[in-house]
Amino acid sequence: MPKNLLLTRRQVIWLSLGTFTGLAVLLKGKDGYRNIKILALDEPSRSFSVIKKEESLKERAAAKGIIYGAAAQDADLRLKPKLAAHFVQECGLLVPEWSLKWEPLRPSPDRFDFTAADWMAEFAQAHSLLLRGHTLVWHLSLPPWFKDTVNRQNAEKFLVEHIEKVAGHYAGKMHSWDVVNEAIHVDDGHPDGLRKTPWLEFLGPDYIDLAYRVAARADPKALLVYNEFGVEYDEPKYDKKRAAILKLLESLKSKGTPLHALGIQAHLSGSANSDYKKLRNFLSDVASLGLQIMITELDVLDEDLPSDIAARDRLVAKAYEDFLSVVLEEPAVSTVITWGLSDAYTYHIKTHRRADGMSVRPLPLDADFKPKLAWNAIARAFDSAPRRRSLK
Ligand code: G3I
Repeated sequence: MPKNLLLTRRQVIWLSLGTFTGLAVLLKGKDGYRNIKILALDEPSRSFSVIKKEESLKERAAAKGIIYGAAAQDADLRLKPKLAAHFVQECGLLVPEWSLKWEPLRPSPDRFDFTAADWMAEFAQAHSLLLRGHTLVWHLSLPPWFKDTVNRQNAEKFLVEHIEKVAGHYAGKMHSWDVVNEAIHVDDGHPDGLRKTPWLEFLGPDYIDLAYRVAARADPKALLVYNEFGVEYDEPKYDKKRAAILKLLESLKSKGTPLHALGIQAHLSGSANSDYKKLRNFLSDVASLGLQIMITELDVLDEDLPSDIAARDRLVAKAYEDFLSVVLEEPAVSTVITWGLSDAYTYHIKTHRRADGMSVRPLPLDADFKPKLAWNAIARAFDSAPRRRSLK
């Protein structure tokens, strides 16, 4: 037995304790088992040794001045030590997929519950991850009490109080906030292309400017981002959405709204083909407003790709590389975040089931945390990206 595996009496005690409070994880390295570490299942700061392999995605990205990170659910990070270990290995930024939304934060109109989000903030701090907030103002994931409580008379109070309390709670700890998420929906017919949300209904278009001004006061250090989807491809509906977003960004910048970046979600389709010429021009137009650009929710939907896994993985990898090789040409692109890290933990499992019943494979690591062709594609895109000065 390798000598470093001989357990001291103390480690035996820990290990036996650990089987109750945590999980002993054998991390296999090239020379056999390197460490037996107890991963306490509920302590975000518990350290663990990670498998050192070829440069991680975060290291390859950082070499070009780009931040790479991913989204995760607090319950998954807390209870799945292998996910936690690979997350810390691959990512330089963490965005909570759920715990910073209204529904989990606001159990009742006059109460905030930061328990889950605080655990994520502690995990990020303990493992030197940048923390990203998603999202302060959205029309979805509102708590059940919202529709019967918030109205034209009190909407501003609820909006301001929420942003002050939540952005204030994490002030100084947040790399960036999606202050407003998905406010554009051209088909709703509003003259500005704005989505008909309760916020627009109760407060008018100025709710957006108000949200950023309150967020800037609550956390002057955070990058304030407008986050949106549906700008990637060449079809006319994407042209209309890109135009409406650009018009919104220009309007906000012209009135001095404290907006620093556009977040492009980039939930791609593995079956779409695009040379991304229109997207590339859009990125230049956004950058010319003095805005940073963050790719905030990157993944590749494979629900209508072939059942054959090798063929499917090749198409998913191609989608990643084609997209990233174009967007990373734009120096204003500072950050690439995948909406999850492993296929075992993707929202696609619930929302995009495959007709053949096979598991979806939209992310860089497979369900056993092995790098896929998608991982290689993202790594190659970072390696060939032009170097940029690190943007904050
Ligand atoms: O945690 C509760 C659990 O306690 C409860 O028992 C269960 C009952 O349904 O719900 C659980 O919450 C779910 C949550 O994910 C955590 O798993 C919510 O129902 C579910 O609606 C929520 O879905 C999230 C969705 O946004 C809505 O907030 C997805 O995980 C998340 O991937 C998805 O992410 C969105 C971005 O925020 C915005 N851009 C699009 C993207 C994909 O839809």
